[in-house]
Amino acid sequence: DKGNHRHFMAKEIYEQPEVIAHTFSHYLDLSAETVALPDLPFDLAEIQHISITACGTALYAGAVAEYWLERFARVPVSTDIASEFRYRETPLTPGGLTIVISQSGETADTLASLRYAKECGQKVLAVVNVPTSTIAREADAVLPILAGPEIGVASTKAFTCQLATLACLSVAIGRAKGLLSQEDEHRLVRAFMEVPRLMTEALKLSPEIEVLSRTLAKARDVLYLGRGTNFPLALEGALKLKEISYIHAEGYAGGELKHGPIALIDETMPVVVIAPHDRIFDKTVSNMEEVAARGGKIILVTDPKGAAQAHVDAVQKLILPEMPATVCPMVYSIPVQLIAYHTAVIMGTDVDQPRNLAKSVTVE
Ligand code: F6R
Repeated sequence: DKGNHRHFMAKEIYEQPEVIAHTFSHYLDLSAETVALPDLPFDLAEIQHISITACGTALYAGAVAEYWLERFARVPVSTDIASEFRYRETPLTPGGLTIVISQSGETADTLASLRYAKECGQKVLAVVNVPTSTIAREADAVLPILAGPEIGVASTKAFTCQLATLACLSVAIGRAKGLLSQEDEHRLVRAFMEVPRLMTEALKLSPEIEVLSRTLAKARDVLYLGRGTNFPLALEGALKLKEISYIHAEGYAGGELKHGPIALIDETMPVVVIAPHDRIFDKTVSNMEEVAARGGKIILVTDPKGAAQAHVDAVQKLILPEMPATVCPMVYSIPVQLIAYHTAVIMGTDVDQPRNLAKSVTVE
């Protein structure tokens, strides 16, 4: 049932404030303002290194979590495409945790990676949406993301609920290792509790995004840029746009612009910059100046401080409320998804069932 939405994808975008609140309530003790994971069959304090493996959107959720795990738990993390991880014969030494992330829990390469990690003596934790899935059954432990059924082929609410679950896990490991003070944990948990409200605010940008999407719908190629945790979000934005609008898009880390993709910039190439104000925002401003100097059109997704500092020509701004950096990838997902959605609707594609794609990829 799509409710009063035209597509399942729209319904699933709009239900995110509610479903992510549910996910957080499962992994947080709201009154104590602490993270409260279920008991796991291994000791989080003992984890020496982490490998994350997944495909597509789930991989990008893992790539965001890599930043959190390294920041909060000071544990080395490598994030890998499941189809590469399984065949590369990565050496996995004792003391390692492998996190597999999958909406369906049936993705063939992700399942094969899980089995490889187990053979190598790793503890395997599955972050899945379907709790009865093969991946959930074969893992040593499961953290369900509790997004509810996702019907649209393009993943939306599963991505943000994967992020919510992985954010809680990152804080739990940091705490277990004695690296997060109680005050830090309370502060992070309070920030997590604000996410549903911030997402509701972000959804209000929809009419503005619909107008901007008319420019994107005319483009042949679109570039997405982000730094830090917004870099994987740039990759996710480009993937989402390709999948449902069939417009070619690529995501890059802002710092890589000069190392190649800048050669593509001209007046026909829109650039979506995902950049809340942060300590390296001036670097993002110089990226935008480089794009503007070549006639590129910029869509900047930022906050009021970022908007005030981005004195660059030809920038259209989507302004979100100010928020702690840790929650940005969850909240900024909303405009990123809406950009792809509105562009696809303008293009007249089959948003919920894009050509050549399947919801669950059980063959290699
Ligand atoms: C993106 C998308 C795919 C899946 C990928 C992994 O919108 O739908 O990239 O994310 O096929 O699927 P799961 O998460 O089921 O393992």
